[in-house]
Amino acid sequence: MKLVFLGPPGAGKGTVAEKAETDLAVPHVSTGEIFRAAVKNGTPLGKRVKAVMESGALVPDELTIELVKERLGGQDAKAGWILDGFPRTVPQADALVAFDPPDKVVNFELGDEAIVERLSGRRTCPACSRSFHVKFMPPAKEGVCDSCGGSLITREDDKVEAIQRRLAAYRAQTAPLIEYFRAKGRLVTVDASPEAETVYAAFLGLPGLKKG
Ligand code: AP5
Repeated sequence: MKLVFLGPPGAGKGTVAEKAETDLAVPHVSTGEIFRAAVKNGTPLGKRVKAVMESGALVPDELTIELVKERLGGQDAKAGWILDGFPRTVPQADALVAFDPPDKVVNFELGDEAIVERLSGRRTCPACSRSFHVKFMPPAKEGVCDSCGGSLITREDDKVEAIQRRLAAYRAQTAPLIEYFRAKGRLVTVDASPEAETVYAAFLGLPGLKKG
């Protein structure tokens, strides 16, 4: 099963994908995670994308498309994948449709007020990438990752100014993909506003989802 997760920043795409990769037995491929790991490890890619990411703008298409092509060429992605955060522009969507078209595009819908509340309260573990929320998904011990014991941080792009830039980038460059994939008959929609378990149940209830 080849799934694209579409939706505004903070809609909960990563939270759903983290569980779905086990339940559907396909890898969760997050371009944001790949870029963040590169920044953390100080690789040439990381040095190139650090400032752009922290500002809340998008990494150039050419670079992102090449990276995804290479990742989807991996042995573990032969049967299927969940792409979280890609495509985010029409050129990225055109490229994906040409080299490995998705079966479904799941659009997670959430209003601006909730987006800001979710992003500003998110705390992330830089060691294992797990996300928490100070109000909605607090860790057992404040500031400490439940999974690996790492110290939780606020992502640079979860600070207020960067959130506004990410929302602007989403509206201008990514939201047009909703109609793009609807026109191709691939779009399904999930209301992302309820609590996480309800959103996940709605996702699993989508018609035609299958393992692998
Ligand atoms: P990326 O990491 O993809 O960021 P994003 O799309 O903005 O998505 P987020 O990770 O912020 O949100 P999410 O929807 O996964 O929400 P989450 O589950 O964490 O990209 C970061 C940057 O990388 C971009 O800005 C860009 O610079 C670059 N980049 C990446 N891909 C690119 C591309 N294709 N092209 C160009 N540049 C690219 O949930 C958010 C919070 O809410 C968490 O705290 C969570 O605990 C909580 N939460 C989740 N679900 C619920 C719920 N149902 N109720 C209450 N709280 C909830």
